[in-house]
Amino acid sequence: MTSKNVFTIEGLAGKKTLKGSIPVYGAKNNVLKVMAAAILIEGESKFTNVPNIADVTSLGRILEGLGAFVTHKGSELTVSAKGLSGSVLDPVLAKSMRASIVLIGPLLARLGSVTFPHPGGDVIGERPIDIFISGFQKLGASYLESGDSYTLSAPNGISGGEIFFRIVSVTATETFMMAAPLAKAPITLKNCAMEPEIVALAEFLKSCGANIEGAGTPTIIIHPSTLTQPTSAFAIVPDRIEAATFLALGAIAGEELTVTGVISEHLDAVLEILHMMGAMLTVGKDSITIRAPQTLNSVKLRTHEYPGFPTDAQAPMMVALTQAEGESTVVETIFNGRLNYTTELVSMGAKIAVVNPHRATVKGKTPLKARDIDGPDIRAGLAYILAAAIADGTSHVGNAHLMDRGYEAIEKRLAGVGLKITRS
Ligand code: EPU
Repeated sequence: MTSKNVFTIEGLAGKKTLKGSIPVYGAKNNVLKVMAAAILIEGESKFTNVPNIADVTSLGRILEGLGAFVTHKGSELTVSAKGLSGSVLDPVLAKSMRASIVLIGPLLARLGSVTFPHPGGDVIGERPIDIFISGFQKLGASYLESGDSYTLSAPNGISGGEIFFRIVSVTATETFMMAAPLAKAPITLKNCAMEPEIVALAEFLKSCGANIEGAGTPTIIIHPSTLTQPTSAFAIVPDRIEAATFLALGAIAGEELTVTGVISEHLDAVLEILHMMGAMLTVGKDSITIRAPQTLNSVKLRTHEYPGFPTDAQAPMMVALTQAEGESTVVETIFNGRLNYTTELVSMGAKIAVVNPHRATVKGKTPLKARDIDGPDIRAGLAYILAAAIADGTSHVGNAHLMDRGYEAIEKRLAGVGLKITRS
């Protein structure tokens, strides 16, 4: 563990004392995509409600390596891509996050070529890129693999056409949506992901002059258009995964926790599960208050593409289910490595049985005991913080740098509602 990379958390030993307001910041999975989209424009794009997270810094460095200028002050970020010239992604930075894959759309469309490594990111199962490659080939791009890098070329521009995604994919939907405005003819995307971050990306592209119909539905049609500098700043949508994580904490440790700065309609599936578990919820327009009940009910939870229950909120909700009476079932339908983190929860006393890579059962309620554990990825790392928060004793959760990829100043926000958490 490197310095300042470990959270020390004094567990509440089952007490439900967290109280006050906890703010949700801008969504990682929106800001990274609009930053990528900004390189389509020979001008400046301004963003507000930008979280101060490591992935934003890394993507900013990738963009600067391609000839763009990026400034990030407080919660405002500017991308100026007039001088964009490079089409080769820095392999080390690109491998540090899955989101780098979306850059291949705008780069191919604007510069006619892009060279990139296999994108990295969380170790949550297989994360292939076949849909991206076959889709661009269908739109007339040529494809070359050389050693560790891939190159797509379309020097005369990508053609129009129709792409049916064989699997619903968030980043694939976004990547083609970004490339399409500069194509030679309309592009129809079918079986698209419908996440709020996709709708937000479409709104940003429209503010630059793109002609996009259907974002937020399974079929998106994009007509060619000239893109220009947007006239106003674009506000990043609130992070519904942060909100879900804080709500899961509230369900097990909240005397009265108010999660602020949310769009509650983006959280329908999460709120439904919490409601079934018996959490006491007051849903406002942009805030949600939650109180932990005496007894939580077990539930059957199944992750699903939006508007279903988000896979990114599965791990924190698993921690909440360890405190529910009876047997819950969790079915993870998106990724095949996203139940691996449960072994550490078991070592803390949880009764979780992984039946197969996609299914786990949780028997509750079990008290958790403090442990020293390393967070394996952004979301499971937060789940460990939640587990440590309700455990008996003092836990250390390492790999804070992974949680910094997606959560700004997480320890300050949790300390603000009464959790004893420090970083060293
Ligand atoms: N898939 C393929 N081939 C492809 C692309 C995807 O088979 O070419 C499969 C994947 O293996 C997976 C499924 O399609 O089984 C769906 O994955 P998707 O492509 O939607 O995931 P992603 O776009 O790589 C984004 C988020 C993830 C989030 C998922 C699902 C970003 C940068 N990442 O990933 O967020 O879990 O959608 O909602 O937007 C996180 O923020 O912690 C995170 C992992």
